[in-house]
Amino acid sequence: MKTASSLTTSAKVIINKESKSILELPIQEQLNLFKRFGVLLFRDFGVDYDKMKEFAEQFSSKFVLDKDRPIVDSRNKFVTLVDPGMHYVSPHCENANSPFRPDVIWFCCGVPAAQSGETLFWDGVRVWEQLGEELRELFITRKIKFLQKFPPADWKRFLGVGSTIADVKRMLNDISGLSYKINQDQSVSIEYVCSAVVKTKYGHQNAFANSLIAEYKNPRGNVTFEDGSSIASTVINQINQVMNSCTEVISWQPGDLVMIDNSRFLHGRRSFSDRNRRIYSLLSYLK
Ligand SMILES: [Fe+2]
Repeated sequence: MKTASSLTTSAKVIINKESKSILELPIQEQLNLFKRFGVLLFRDFGVDYDKMKEFAEQFSSKFVLDKDRPIVDSRNKFVTLVDPGMHYVSPHCENANSPFRPDVIWFCCGVPAAQSGETLFWDGVRVWEQLGEELRELFITRKIKFLQKFPPADWKRFLGVGSTIADVKRMLNDISGLSYKINQDQSVSIEYVCSAVVKTKYGHQNAFANSLIAEYKNPRGNVTFEDGSSIASTVINQINQVMNSCTEVISWQPGDLVMIDNSRFLHGRRSFSDRNRRIYSLLSYLK
């Protein structure tokens, strides 16, 4: 096995030269690479979603389920297909519009799109450095607020079948920045106030790693400053310009596995039109 420093991205690419199983790789070594690079691409290991889960289990203390994504099969209830549809997905960190942001997002490729459909990523540390004095000042001094509403089916999916409002309260009580309301129809509305600039889990650097752009663009999304005032479109445009200048690309090959540090990197995807594209994902907290 040989490691190449980079193909077309700053991701660390680990290429299988000896027909090894991915499960034979030394865990501590991969973890050290992950802490250093934040995005690892394992190529030619022939990873399918069962292998992805098995590999991820060695690093993870807990898996979480995304409420919007279809589960792949009932044996493997945390592995899902990625966001439905074939549209462009703008930069976001997974579940960063809530206090339940997992440490890692894992992706593996069953079938790449015949054209386009690449997964995109952005280094939040680099984005922050390039935002410019004025925007940095703005987001240091002002927090942002995400509003979301979860029908019972959504929170039951997150908490498990048979969960109750008491479980919801137990989960949501006493979380810094979070307030919530249980509505008459048993849906739950949450307001989450946080900084758009976060400290990376490894290295404790400032990173513009959040879900601001994606929620701003999402017709169902709702993001404002903490006091409820809107974020000016000029600000969003400036952020987009910086994002566009540091977009990085994962050009999928079948069997690829990618591991992304969700405390530092944002991800998204290019649009595509190939219905056969199969990219699977998994969310976890590290041990
Ligand atoms: Fe995502």
